[in-house]
Amino acid sequence: MKTAQLHHEYQPEKFSFTPQNMEKIHAIFAKYPAGRHKSTVMPLLHLAQVQVAERGPYGPYEEGGGWVPRAAMDEVARIVGVPPIKVYEVATFYTMYNLHPVGKYLIQICTTSPCMLGGIGSDVIVNTFRAHLGIDFEQTTPDGLFTMKDVECLGACVNAPVIQINDDYYEDLSPERVIDIIEALRSGQKPKTGSQTGRMGSCPVTGPTTLKDMVQNG
Ligand code: FES
Repeated sequence: MKTAQLHHEYQPEKFSFTPQNMEKIHAIFAKYPAGRHKSTVMPLLHLAQVQVAERGPYGPYEEGGGWVPRAAMDEVARIVGVPPIKVYEVATFYTMYNLHPVGKYLIQICTTSPCMLGGIGSDVIVNTFRAHLGIDFEQTTPDGLFTMKDVECLGACVNAPVIQINDDYYEDLSPERVIDIIEALRSGQKPKTGSQTGRMGSCPVTGPTTLKDMVQNG
């Protein structure tokens, strides 16, 4: 259960979707049968979060990531035609919705058992982030670049330890790769995503054991 922070000091008074996103909303609505549009609350909240990531408001940061202001929840409720509380309930339940400003890069570190035990272990990864960024979970670096948070299983346990930064996964992590990733992002580069040891997908670390011909021939 997340802590609701709907009255955070950085809440904007108003929120409206861009014309481009209103077009997307019409397309989302078209996917649902008549009378079932309440189900669009989740994709619309996600769209609001993406819009904030692209255009702000970023709260206290010059540049920031996506979050869902309360005014956006109210706007979603208005568009969908449900009481605002129905949207608040969804937004405060799912951890994919950020309820307060976050950094430009939202680092989600999996600390569930397989990632805690797999590879070098998530504890080492967490401590590397702590030491290199000088922040802990639920904190943001003063320059607004990085927010760190711990999450449950990201669904890529075979390549543990795993993190997600914005929409990208980084797997088979080591402390060295964590620092490389941070520094690449800091300098505006795009780090290599996926397995950091170069294995393809989630094949065995010693190489494929089946369908070898297909792998070798691409
Ligand atoms: S336990 Fe970390 S990805 Fe599943």
